[in-house]
Amino acid sequence: MTKRLYIETVGCQMNVLDSEMVVASLRKHGYELTKDPKLADTLLFNTCSVREHAEDKTYSALGHLKKLKTTNPEKIIGVMGCMAQKDQRTIFERAPYVDIVVGPGQLQQIPELVAKIEAGSKCEMAVGLGRRDGSVDEIKRSHETFDPLRDPTMRPTPYQAYLRIQIGCDKFCTYCIVPSTRGPEQGRPPQQIYDEAQLLAEQGCKEITLLGQTVNSYKYADGGTTTRLADLLYRLHDIEGIERLKFVTNYPKDMTYDLLQAVRDLSKVSPYLHVPLQSGSDAVLQRMKRGYTVQDYREMMERIRNTVPGYAVSSDFIVGFCGETEEEFQQTVELVKECRFKNSFIFKYSERPGTKGAELMKDDVPVDVKQRRNNELLAVQTAISEEDNQEFIGRTVEVLVEGPSKRALRDGHNDELILQLTGRTPCDRIVVFDGNRRQIGETLPITVYDATAFTLFGNAIVEAFTPQVSPLQII
Ligand code: 5AD
Ligand code: SF4
Repeated sequence: MTKRLYIETVGCQMNVLDSEMVVASLRKHGYELTKDPKLADTLLFNTCSVREHAEDKTYSALGHLKKLKTTNPEKIIGVMGCMAQKDQRTIFERAPYVDIVVGPGQLQQIPELVAKIEAGSKCEMAVGLGRRDGSVDEIKRSHETFDPLRDPTMRPTPYQAYLRIQIGCDKFCTYCIVPSTRGPEQGRPPQQIYDEAQLLAEQGCKEITLLGQTVNSYKYADGGTTTRLADLLYRLHDIEGIERLKFVTNYPKDMTYDLLQAVRDLSKVSPYLHVPLQSGSDAVLQRMKRGYTVQDYREMMERIRNTVPGYAVSSDFIVGFCGETEEEFQQTVELVKECRFKNSFIFKYSERPGTKGAELMKDDVPVDVKQRRNNELLAVQTAISEEDNQEFIGRTVEVLVEGPSKRALRDGHNDELILQLTGRTPCDRIVVFDGNRRQIGETLPITVYDATAFTLFGNAIVEAFTPQVSPLQII
């Protein structure tokens, strides 16, 4: 009998990919997806712990399920992902109607855990070892991935897919929970990655985004040979059907000249580089234990500028980190102006229990100051994005068409033949234009006629009309 699965995903691309894998594995066990929690036999929440706000939202969503579970006790509720690994049993205490808690490194066990609950178990928990709970090898073994179970229906679009090349993180930035939720950094074997990319290409995927917490630190040693990200890009470039390769998220110190040369020389590799800077103050970077200085970052920008034509760099920032003074914040503002990022994601510092930041430093920047700094930095970045996007007016860009634009979806034009479409340039800029449904999934030249900070507006180039018969015959 078919059973129904409802799944909700928050957090980063890793989580989107994890949900895809879980859906693929539950489908093998007779499950079908539903968008309605009331119709579901099993409800899964894929969670994020990077900021407190994300956790609050999940606990509140779980709170809404209490009534559903009281009236339908047979429904199975599971919490998976980073918050499951971080909070573990606390989740059962805060939401006693949850049946399953499963960390990001144990997702392959989900069908088995669901079966145990069906068989009468009251609750099931599977999590990885903590960073102090065993030898490095034991801890590594307790955080696994179960790629490459894939499910095309769970992709951002049928033409785009994520591919994990690395799990975990060993950088231990003092604000960050990820090294404890996703465990030690481990590169997947290159052959596995290649085979999975091949499978994605066979499934009709044209763009692959390689994922890792610090993707450009990717390293896999096998006997005498070490494979790095640049080597992987060279191998994946040969796969027929793949038109674009991207990789996120990058660590500034590992943005080597070798890698940038690969980005320059391989036509399928997108010149879009997401390299979070986090702060423009050396003192703050040191408190964050980021492992680089402002000067190192400047030199990296210089390397990118001198090596990769058409590059676009984007960044992440945390404002209001422990002890951040107004002067330190202003240094960030100045660096944003200097680096001219394509866009920046800006976050207010959120103290995470279990991190060095929470243990050793005081979260002493008031909430209203964090908010003001967030607004100010965002305004500076938005003005830069808008100015730089204006440069595209009159230019023709290559767009991989992803589907109907947000406006087309909102206005209910989704099923029409002629509609507003959206896609991205190789440098990851969003382009909207009026087109034909049949163009979805194609790569098209689009001429840009207008631009805002976030979007380029363009026209599809209409091929010159070539009459099928000679004009003489018409006469
Ligand atoms: N508080 C606020 N933002 C954070 N990030 C990571 N940890 C925290 C935290 N504790 C941000 C960083 C990172 C992005 C994914 O989230 O900017 O690059
Ligand atoms: Fe959130 Fe980080 Fe976990 Fe992704 S890896 S889900 S951003 S805590």
